[in-house]
Amino acid sequence: MKKILIFIGPPGSGKGTQAKLLAKKYGYKHISTGDLFRALSEDETATEKEKQALEEMKSGKLVSDWLVYNLAFKEIKKNLESNVGVVLDGAIRSLEQAKEFQKFFEENNWGEEIQAIEVSLSDDESFNRLAKRRICSKCGEIIPYLSTTKDLSDCPKCDGELIYRQDDSEEIIKKRIEEQGNISLYPIVNYYKNLGSLKSVDGNQAIEIVEKQIENIVKL
Ligand code: AP5
Ligand code: MG
Repeated sequence: MKKILIFIGPPGSGKGTQAKLLAKKYGYKHISTGDLFRALSEDETATEKEKQALEEMKSGKLVSDWLVYNLAFKEIKKNLESNVGVVLDGAIRSLEQAKEFQKFFEENNWGEEIQAIEVSLSDDESFNRLAKRRICSKCGEIIPYLSTTKDLSDCPKCDGELIYRQDDSEEIIKKRIEEQGNISLYPIVNYYKNLGSLKSVDGNQAIEIVEKQIENIVKL
């Protein structure tokens, strides 16, 4: 199994849901740049420059590349050097970033360790899911909007309070899909296709089916 699993997909496609399941199953480290940014925005030791860069996130735009690389490369290195594989969730959102990550992987002799997984979903379905998504304020569990979960008020894992994410307002979801949805992903998907490292799954299936198909990909 490859040591670097890269999830690519529009907002709401299920990157976080699937990355968490996969990381837990195989003892890999789940690295979500969105989560790293949200943690940094709560961190009192964040610098002025970092705080300024994070402002972009509030309006649904991409955060500056330098901050992506600063946070993501450190986490990746720390884990791979300890022989713990990584599941990258949303860490790559432009062709420039894909090239920079590739350079970083090759410089560290990890060029053969890459499996990119595209989770495809229409922009309309992304919107529907995000508008109804809740997360646990305590453990970060992601709650889908299903008949079995829609009436929950507490987290089924830890009893924490379920809340809506700050950037899941209608206006910001639209902006995120406009800036980070399918159109922006084509060049990235093509990049990994040309490297021979890409597999795709249809994200518009039940969570367990998507999970099974991803497992079949990574076990190859
Ligand atoms: P991030 O936190 O990554 O947000 P995102 O890309 O908008 O993706 P989401 O987390 O909203 O969706 P997801 O694909 O993880 O779906 P989920 O599993 O939750 O990034 C936040 C911000 O940080 C970005 O907007 C940007 O500003 C910045 N950023 C991050 N990385 C960056 C980078 N590399 N460069 C620059 N800026 C960056 O699922 C969604 C919902 O659907 C949930 O309710 C879930 O339960 C449900 N669901 C999942 N799968 C299914 C299914 N199969 N069927 C039914 N429901 C499902
Ligand atoms: Mg996510």
